[in-house]
Amino acid sequence: MNNKLIQTAIKMCDVAHAPYSNYQVGAAVETETGEIVGGCNVESSSYGLTCCAERTALFRAIAEGHTSFKSLAVVTANGGSPCGACRQVIWDLCGDIPIHICDKKGWVKTLSSSELLPDAFDDSHLK
Ligand code: THU
Repeated sequence: MNNKLIQTAIKMCDVAHAPYSNYQVGAAVETETGEIVGGCNVESSSYGLTCCAERTALFRAIAEGHTSFKSLAVVTANGGSPCGACRQVIWDLCGDIPIHICDKKGWVKTLSSSELLPDAFDDSHLK
């Protein structure tokens, strides 16, 4: 378990932009080279344009030049799970890695990406 990963996700939770749902989410991804990249949910007044914390973290990491990921943490006040869209993007960009689902008080449940998204659609179906 990477403590810095979870600590970064907690910090990200505190900077979430969630004025409509008031549901703050923080995420952090650990790159193959050991760097930690964080993200938070960013909501829009046009609700469907909202970007979840997990995707913000992963897209930021990709934009910073990272291509390979070792683990991911997501933090909420009540230990919420990644949504279906994020499960797909995690599978596409990370493959089968541990996902630490946490609350802010230290509760952690670890599942793999393939447990979160069994029988995933992916690039193997496009070839
Ligand atoms: N949210 C995330 O950031 N990640 C998830 O996996 C689930 C949902 C956000 C989107 C929205 O800003 C708020 O939580 C309520 O749905």
